[in-house]
Amino acid sequence: MTGSHELEKLEIDLLLEGVHERYGYDFRNYARASLVRRIRHRMVVESVETISGLLARILHDPECFDGLLSDLSIPVTEMFRDPDFFKAIRETVIPVLRTHPYVKIWHAGCATGEEAYSMAILLAEADLLSRTRIYATDYNRACLETARQGIYPADSVEDIEARYCASGGTASLCDYYHSGYDALKIRDDLRKSIVFAHHNLAADQSFGEMNLVVCRNVLIYFDRKLQHRVLRLFHQSLCHRGFLGIGPKETVGFSNVHDRLEATQGMPSLYRRKD
Ligand SMILES: C[S@@+](CC[C@H](N)C(=O)[O-])C[C@H]1O[C@@H](n2cnc3c(N)ncnc32)[C@H](O)[C@@H]1O
Repeated sequence: MTGSHELEKLEIDLLLEGVHERYGYDFRNYARASLVRRIRHRMVVESVETISGLLARILHDPECFDGLLSDLSIPVTEMFRDPDFFKAIRETVIPVLRTHPYVKIWHAGCATGEEAYSMAILLAEADLLSRTRIYATDYNRACLETARQGIYPADSVEDIEARYCASGGTASLCDYYHSGYDALKIRDDLRKSIVFAHHNLAADQSFGEMNLVVCRNVLIYFDRKLQHRVLRLFHQSLCHRGFLGIGPKETVGFSNVHDRLEATQGMPSLYRRKD
């Protein structure tokens, strides 16, 4: 006899299998609680009564799948999010990057690009941008398009300014964008320093020889198995003594890359590859 809880679990497993088979996106190792909330939300939007009903619609209607994909993506972000993290980049990482002739940085799960642009501003201020290539990736193509354009609503400029100052910024932030029509557009040289590309952390391979990998507020959506895969991917992507930055609520403690990374002083979410 199957109880309603087991039945729901079975339906969700079938939905995730179906999505993987039909569209190649693998959500089977995402943290279940938030996954279930998003699936229920999509059921309401699509006016279907059961998860199996949602599966049928998703299999037959790619637009319905796009809706679910955007529900599951949760691209919440902002410029200079967690200013302490960017302060640590200025104080701990940039002095090391200076010693390299060429610098490569990967922002995985970049959402609409604000995190990568914040990094580009730091590098410009350190006079390192011209010898740095930033790769910023996400599986959400709509977010990547917004990121490439680098146009954002201007209503939060004061908050951005405050976080920029808290990160140790001393210039005038408006030097980095053009404003008009209630929007701000990131300066062209900053936009050109970043390659925005599609990459799925649940399926794709690592990028090579990065001096810094940043993946913040993404691992929290994954179960331990997927977190483990992704942390291994990041470790493989780091160059000798490269840095890894994760989100404030995330940890590498449970993973076997833990022994191959050392924490940096004063910033628990910034690690350095041991060699
Ligand atoms: C909460 S946002 C984090 C954005 C930014 N890193 C920050 O901290 O502000 C999470 C992002 O991870 C992306 N994401 C989730 N699963 C992914 C996957 N398997 N591969 C690539 N990106 C993924 C989502 O599309 C979303 O844009």
